[in-house]
Amino acid sequence: MDMQASKQFLAELKVLTYVHHLNLVRLIGYCTVECSHFLVYEYIENGNLSQHLHGSERDPLPWSTRVQIALDSARGLEYIHEYTVPIFVHCDIKSANILIDKNFNGKVADFGLTRLTNVGSRSRLVGTFGYMPPEYAQYGDVSSKVDVYSFGVVLYELISAKTAIIRENGSVYEPKGLIALFDEVLGQADPKEHLVKMIDPRLGGNYPLDSVHKMAQLAKACTREDPHRRPSMRAIVVALMTLALSPED
Ligand SMILES: Nc1ncnc2c1ncn2[C@@H]1O[C@H](COP(=O)(O)OP(=O)(O)O)[C@@H](O)[C@H]1O
Ligand SMILES: [Mg+2]
Repeated sequence: MDMQASKQFLAELKVLTYVHHLNLVRLIGYCTVECSHFLVYEYIENGNLSQHLHGSERDPLPWSTRVQIALDSARGLEYIHEYTVPIFVHCDIKSANILIDKNFNGKVADFGLTRLTNVGSRSRLVGTFGYMPPEYAQYGDVSSKVDVYSFGVVLYELISAKTAIIRENGSVYEPKGLIALFDEVLGQADPKEHLVKMIDPRLGGNYPLDSVHKMAQLAKACTREDPHRRPSMRAIVVALMTLALSPED
């Protein structure tokens, strides 16, 4: 590790040790082994959200649990966007970076140090294809709206259990993004009717369609091209709280 890198490591470690929130994986400390630095986090029992949604080894998550996990991760992000000094942008939000604890609460993980970025900066591009907003992928523009966009993709994953980029087996077509797929569905004259075909079949029809539709609309707002037209994490938390409170029908 060169001078610059180890300076960055120490500066960001200092901040990370202060950032504690129920919905962020807790950093316990770090250790150095043979000149390599390692961060030590609390252990989260139930793996990551991607494994739950895209794997077959685990039982399907019920709809109410999916809403709760969305709300949990939104709260974690709201915290780093609005309440820490300085504020942070995660820059790599995706289902594989949301961990699930023994009570099925969601926790945002993977604060790979280079990915904690000061707002307003232009940064070296780090992130995951399929989750990156256009302004970030093209110009490296970093704002909290980068995380909002990626979070929208995670909401679509919760609804459909499809991956952010869908490659059809043996297809000659370009792989399709989940956002484009949902844009098509939600742009129909009767979106709810078309939405049903996108919902995770492992839910076995056990979901309130109204709630799924509201989450899809929220995801659509999060993934708008223009970052200024995306909602803030604070507004997203409020919207998801309403969903979590509304009775299942
Ligand atoms: N604190 C933790 N407790 C349990 N599992 C974890 C924890 N942190 C990471 N993992 C598992 O390891 C995977 C990769 O960790 P992550 O921090 O995302 O590093 P990477 O930079 O390799 O993506 C996660 O998707 C999760 O399955
Ligand atoms: Mg990761």
